[in-house]
Amino acid sequence: MFEQVFLVRSMDVRKGDHVLELCLGSGVNALAAAHRGAARVVGVDVSERALAFASANAAVNLSRERGEPPLEILRGNLFEPLAAEDRFDLILVNPPFEPVPPGMRYFLHSHGGEDGLDVIRALLPGVPQRLRPGRRFEMFTWTLSDDRLEWATDLVLAAFPDFRVEVRRAERAPLEVCFTKFRDRPGYAVWRDRLISQGVTGVWGLHVRALRDGPAGLVRIDAMDEVLACNATISQWRRS
Ligand SMILES: C[S@@+](CC[C@H](N)C(=O)[O-])C[C@H]1O[C@@H](n2cnc3c(N)ncnc32)[C@H](O)[C@@H]1O
Repeated sequence: MFEQVFLVRSMDVRKGDHVLELCLGSGVNALAAAHRGAARVVGVDVSERALAFASANAAVNLSRERGEPPLEILRGNLFEPLAAEDRFDLILVNPPFEPVPPGMRYFLHSHGGEDGLDVIRALLPGVPQRLRPGRRFEMFTWTLSDDRLEWATDLVLAAFPDFRVEVRRAERAPLEVCFTKFRDRPGYAVWRDRLISQGVTGVWGLHVRALRDGPAGLVRIDAMDEVLACNATISQWRRS
């Protein structure tokens, strides 16, 4: 998917890094970190099925001979399965992010609660204490936005008050895209009207990086070239 291509191309993995990927899914981001010289790579997911895919992908794609570390796979909710003293140089996440009407059963890989932010809200407070001093957090997510700010950006700025927060808007989708698929569900109209009354005007695919370099605060970075490069990669895969 576009989001994995963007995150893999953008993530700042340095040789010898200890990397944690929350919401591991298939493991593609963690495996790419192992290919790029990470010394330790840990992935956490609540889904046994996702972890089976990640484990199979690691078996096929990681090589001891190339000096790549094994993918350490842990099952559980966000930071819960980690040892108390575990700290990382880079924490990655591509969380479930779809806004879903209240009380509705929906895919675990996508269910982000009523405003799409439930998992992001749950994980952000735990990130700073799991980072080694001066290290990095990177996330690719879709998020609702009002005229002022993307809602996920607002949460990251609040969770990392002393960090530089770099935000790249990768893609914009029409708001109706998130709503219309649920239009036959109970509670749809009330849910939609509530979000609109909270000022939602759009949906963005967003890459966010929080780091200690430079002055604290929000820095917007143009992503046009990166988006074109990702789309070119995806088109090439589709042709081959
Ligand atoms: C958007 S998917 C990640 C996709 C992944 N980046 C990939 O390329 O396959 C979100 C993942 O988060 C997992 N997840 C949902 N809630 C979680 C939680 N509370 N703790 C850990 N993992 C969770 C889901 O099982 C799913 O695999």
